Amino acid sequence: MKDSKYILVTGGAGYIGSHTVVELYENGFTPVIVDDFRNSHYSVIEGLEKITKTDIIYRKIDVCNFNAFENIFIEFSFVGIIHFAAYKAVGESVLEPIKYYRNNLDGLLNCLELAQIYKVHDIVFSSSCTVYGEPKGVNVVTENTSVQPANSPYGNTKQIGEEIINDVINSGAELKILKLRYFNPIGAHDTGLIGELPIGKPNNLLPYVTQTAIGTLEKLIVFGNDYPTHDGTCVRDYVHVCDVANAHVKGLEWLMKQNSNMTDTVNIGTGKGTSVLEIIHIFEKVSEQLLNWEFGNRREGDVPEIYADVTKAEQLLDWKANRNVKDAIFDAWNWELKRRNE
Ligand code: UD1
Repeated sequence: MKDSKYILVTGGAGYIGSHTVVELYENGFTPVIVDDFRNSHYSVIEGLEKITKTDIIYRKIDVCNFNAFENIFIEFSFVGIIHFAAYKAVGESVLEPIKYYRNNLDGLLNCLELAQIYKVHDIVFSSSCTVYGEPKGVNVVTENTSVQPANSPYGNTKQIGEEIINDVINSGAELKILKLRYFNPIGAHDTGLIGELPIGKPNNLLPYVTQTAIGTLEKLIVFGNDYPTHDGTCVRDYVHVCDVANAHVKGLEWLMKQNSNMTDTVNIGTGKGTSVLEIIHIFEKVSEQLLNWEFGNRREGDVPEIYADVTKAEQLLDWKANRNVKDAIFDAWNWELKRRNE
């Protein structure tokens, strides 16, 4: 299609990527997914096609393979890039650091190099609140809160990724790059056709909760009950994945209005903290069933309490989360039930 506004979405079959593909369609863009499906399923494409009622454009390509990746830039004339493709399991990154550095950094470097060669100026990069580590003396973090030494190779790839971007912009590159630091994305599309699809045992809280409730997992262990928080369990800023997806569209639209050679960073969260116990209680209400859980030891590296100051997202991108934690848990449970009944 000649007039299509093609957006390259690396890792577009992944959790946040797939929800962003829907948002892009709904906002007049034509997303082109590049994903090698090593950490995602083809069924995501089917779900996307049902939601968008259109043929999804996707190519099975590893973004670390420069030549293969270049082909997509030859095939399509992109107006923007959203770079998701990366590994994200903290524990695995500690055991296999080289795999994480190679994948997360080679993919980003190829993306930046090809963007320059093919003059695709607008790029949104997936970063994470993990870059704040354990912030000193504050629970609510702004984009100016200092970055702390990473406590895992995964976290380090996000920090180094941000530094690479800053260096590339400082070199005078004709690029505009928005770094979005996500807090804790949860939930699923309200159709229940796409959602979080962890391969193997999940690491994150919400899929652990829903898989325990459905009987795939036996019991949820709450990591620690003696944190200095209001109920002793860790507090996070859980944000609906569709709101996170929408932030990318707002981000791209904002980038397109900026002058070249700039980068900026924006927190993507709700600005509200929720504890693990509160998540369990909300889940039990929403699902109308009791969850099998018990307290266990603290998980190494967990920060007691962190949530986003979202002022900048509102002011700069005109973005804010429209859904609350209860909506997100409802959609996550709906997704789990729908998968089970298929
Ligand atoms: C984790 C990563 C973070 C990454 C994010 C991606 C760690 C230390 N941090 O964030 O770098 O960007 O995922 O989504 O892994 N919990 C339990 N029992 C469980 C699982 C989790 O009690 O079985 C608790 C955790 O202790 C934590 C909260 O639930 O307090 C959320 O955990 P999780 O979903 O893993 O997210 P983060 O640790 O915030």
